[in-house]
Parts: sequence; C-alpha cells; structure tokens
Amino acid sequence: MKIAISGKGGVGKTTVAANLVKAFSRDGYSVYAVDADPDVSLGQTLGFKREDLAKLQPLIDMKEVINDKSSGGGLFYDLNPEVDDVVEDYSLKMGNIKFLRMGGVKQGGSACYCKENSFLNAVLNSLLFDQEDVVILDMSAGIEHLTRGTSEGVDLIIIITEPTKVSVQTTRVVQQLARDLGIKKAKVLGNKIRHEKEKEFLSSQFTEEELIGTVSFDEKEWEKAMSEEAGVLDSEELLPNLEEIYKKILEEVSS
Ligand SMILES: Nc1ncnc2c1ncn2[C@@H]1O[C@H](COP(=O)(O)OP(=O)(O)OP(=O)(O)O)[C@@H](O)[C@H]1O
Ligand SMILES: [Mg+2]
Repeated sequence: MKIAISGKGGVGKTTVAANLVKAFSRDGYSVYAVDADPDVSLGQTLGFKREDLAKLQPLIDMKEVINDKSSGGGLFYDLNPEVDDVVEDYSLKMGNIKFLRMGGVKQGGSACYCKENSFLNAVLNSLLFDQEDVVILDMSAGIEHLTRGTSEGVDLIIIITEPTKVSVQTTRVVQQLARDLGIKKAKVLGNKIRHEKEKEFLSSQFTEEELIGTVSFDEKEWEKAMSEEAGVLDSEELLPNLEEIYKKILEEVSS
C-alpha cells in the first residue's frame, strides 16, 4: 500500500509521516519511508545520521543506471528486476525500514518533468511486492509536487491541516486535486490542536467522513524543535492520538 502525506508548509507532514513509519514498522510491515521533500527532513526526523543522509543518493539518479541496464527500453517496461538490484544502493536501513530520497520531482513554469515523475513513480510502485509492504511518502509543502506521476497508485492521501482558515483552504485545494488525479481516498488530519474550540472549528469545516482524526498540540514535540535529540524511532511513544488514527488508516487502506 502507498500512503502520501500532504498539506501546507509546517503543518506537521514530516512529523506525522515519521510516526506512521514507526507504527507500521512496529507491526512488522516492510516500510519504505520516502522523502519527496528536497531537504530530507524525514530522514532526520526518523533519526538517521546526518552524515549518512548527506551521502544518500536520490532515486532520480537511478534513472541513468536503469536506462543503461535496459538498453533504453522506455519507461514502462517492468522495472522489478532492475530495481531490486539497485535499490539497496539508494536506501538507508534501520530494522524493517528503508529510507529513500526521491530527488528531482519538480514542475517549474512550463517545463514538464513528466518523464522524471513517471520514472520515480514506477520505481516506487515496483517496491510494493506484497500486502506487508508499505510506502509512506512525505510530500513537500504545497501542491506542485502532486502530479499524475507522483500520485499514481496512491491508496490514501492524508492531508494535514492546522485549525486555521488558511490551512483549511490549502486542504480543500489538495482534496480537489486528489480527486482530479484519481487518488482513491483522501482524509484530513487536524494537527496541533490546543483548544476544544479549534477541534469544533475543524468539525465545522469537514464532514465526519473527511476528518480521520485530530492530534493535540504536544509540548514534548514542540520542545524537540529546539533540541538536537534523537529521532522519532528512538522515542518511546507516538504522538497523542496517533495510535487511534493509525488504526483507522489501516482500515482505510485494507477496505
Ligand atoms: N502535534 C504537534 N504538537 C507540537 N508540535 C508539533 C506537532 N506536530 C508537528 N509539530 C512541530 O511543528 C514543526 C513542523 O512540523 P513538520 O516539520 O512535521 O511539518 P511539515 O509540514 O513537514 O513542514 P514542511 O512543510 O517544512 O515540510 C516541527 O517543529 C514539529 O516538531
Ligand atoms: Mg516536512
């Protein structure tokens, strides 16, 4: 299964993605944690070493290797054998978690990066061999990275929102785009909730069907932003309420 995390800048995409990686890994899934954000914050948030992250090649660099191997067989040939061979060189491992950097996913002005996007998507899809494999995609802020290429095969997109009008507006744009792109399911997750009033605000903006849950503002999480301490994988617990949301996500992707 393939789960994408999207939303406005700074709402908590990387934090939620890291928590989900941890939950799936704990439950024995093979997890591919994929950073679609150029600043590789997911790797850091999970707790991979800075020097290892700095050395990690992005998936887009694999394109040359595969093109060479398949003697220009085009983009839509079966990538599985080739990817199997080379994916090891493009990932950092921790237990049953593999961390990968996308790199190169962009769409600037009128230039089309469709080929690159399709390639990256084909690589990701070829990683998913069975039911126990899960890809968690940490998207960058905004919508420009959400293209037909990157969204293909996404089973569920989770749009993180803060309880503000601006964040809700972005969420609606992403919801619409997800529908246009044919993503099967989209859910909204409210984050950094401090007051009941904020929860009520989100409940007034989204239907029960749309809203998968809310996560409280967590002082410990907030403190982390100022410290150099270990990543999410080293900490004891998930974010408040994330366990319940994780269970709902499991239901969504398996139904
Ligand atoms: N529930 C929460 N309670 C308190 N702080 C939180 C919570 N969720 C996230 N944060 C903090 O908010 C900041 C932004 O979170 P994060 O980096 O996950 O957002 P993002 O959406 O990935 O940002 P970007 O758009 O820059 O990629 C971080 O310092 C994180 O620790
Ligand atoms: Mg982020």
